[in-house]
Amino acid sequence: RSSAVAGMCLRVAQTGFAVLVLLQCCSAYKLVCYYTSWSQYRQGDASCFPDAIDPFLCTHVIYSFANISNNEIDTWEWNDVTLYDTLNSLKNRNPKLKTLLSVGGWTFGSQRFSRIASKTQSRRTFIKSVPPFLRTHGFDGLDLAWLYPGRRDKRHFTTLVKEMKAEFAKEAQSGTQQLLLSAAVSGGKVTLDSGYDIPQISQHLDFISLMTYDFHGAWRQTTGHHSPLFKGQEDASPDRFSNVDYAVGYMLRLRAPANKLVMGIPTFGKSFTLASSETGVGAPTSGPGIAGRFTKEEGILAYYEVCDFLPGATVHRLLGQQVPYATKGNQWVGYDDQESIKSKVQYLRNRQLAGAMVWALDLDDFRGSFCGQNQRFPLTGTIKNALL
Ligand SMILES: *[C@@H]1O[C@H](CO)[C@@H](O)[C@H](O)[C@H]1NC(C)=O
Repeated sequence: RSSAVAGMCLRVAQTGFAVLVLLQCCSAYKLVCYYTSWSQYRQGDASCFPDAIDPFLCTHVIYSFANISNNEIDTWEWNDVTLYDTLNSLKNRNPKLKTLLSVGGWTFGSQRFSRIASKTQSRRTFIKSVPPFLRTHGFDGLDLAWLYPGRRDKRHFTTLVKEMKAEFAKEAQSGTQQLLLSAAVSGGKVTLDSGYDIPQISQHLDFISLMTYDFHGAWRQTTGHHSPLFKGQEDASPDRFSNVDYAVGYMLRLRAPANKLVMGIPTFGKSFTLASSETGVGAPTSGPGIAGRFTKEEGILAYYEVCDFLPGATVHRLLGQQVPYATKGNQWVGYDDQESIKSKVQYLRNRQLAGAMVWALDLDDFRGSFCGQNQRFPLTGTIKNALL
């Protein structure tokens, strides 16, 4: 299909409508958006079901997470089958939308993935179970969220990716469109070095979502932005690895093809409780920030909770790192807003990456009821517009 489009571009370019048609046919950035099934349990206006998703917002929506049971892919939530159906019926309104099912995640645990992937028989059973499951529920592909393969898993992760892709190719011989295969990969240098054979897995994956966030957290006992675009002036090693620019540059040096690399942009902030009257970057902290009213997890605020926090807060913009943070009382939160997102999208365009990944749709102001202007998905919408 893409070569047909390219051919069309070429023919039309020859007839002199190059600019117009290039704009229409080739600004094909991916916007890969995660939806989390547990967001349904948040209270009130924070409760998010897949029917809240605008079918034209993203090019790919990834439902997270699926389980593995008896070595076969399986549902996680009691009502997953209904939610899969709701999600996949978005394609009735936008037939170009692709949906993937993500398997794994943090609570799934790396060890279980490790056990399944390291043995030929269980790996085979898992791989065999995937295409029928995806087809039954109307998904277009699988996303591997093994967080994270360790040093001894590296080879098994590569084998898993390679064999899964081969299975997808075989399955597509029946004339159906081949299932997509993607993976969510750590943005941390140490984890990248130990767990992934980037040149190998890149060959078999349709795209790689780089998790360029969570670079800083309460374990550091100082304030810091969790997803800065660039390193801060005062960042010494190993902090110089903890930014989007380093992670993207490093992946490219590891020979991840730019046209398969999708850069993660968070719709959440990471918060801290200040330990003193210092409020800048690098200020001492006594722990994670107070849990958000809806997400109820210490140290994390959904963008809509950040919007709730901002009245009366002091907002600073880190010029070098190109991201904002806000403080109020003894709370400190580093987050992304429309301005930082525009910088990030400009950056990924300059690097000629495949597009952007969003974690997560349900953490954006998906109803447009918290952040003003009645705008639904203000952050994800900003990414979409900046990618046009
Ligand atoms: C996932 O699968 C494992 C293994 O069968 C099972 O023990 C666990 O309860 C499942 N998790 C959920 C949330 O269903």
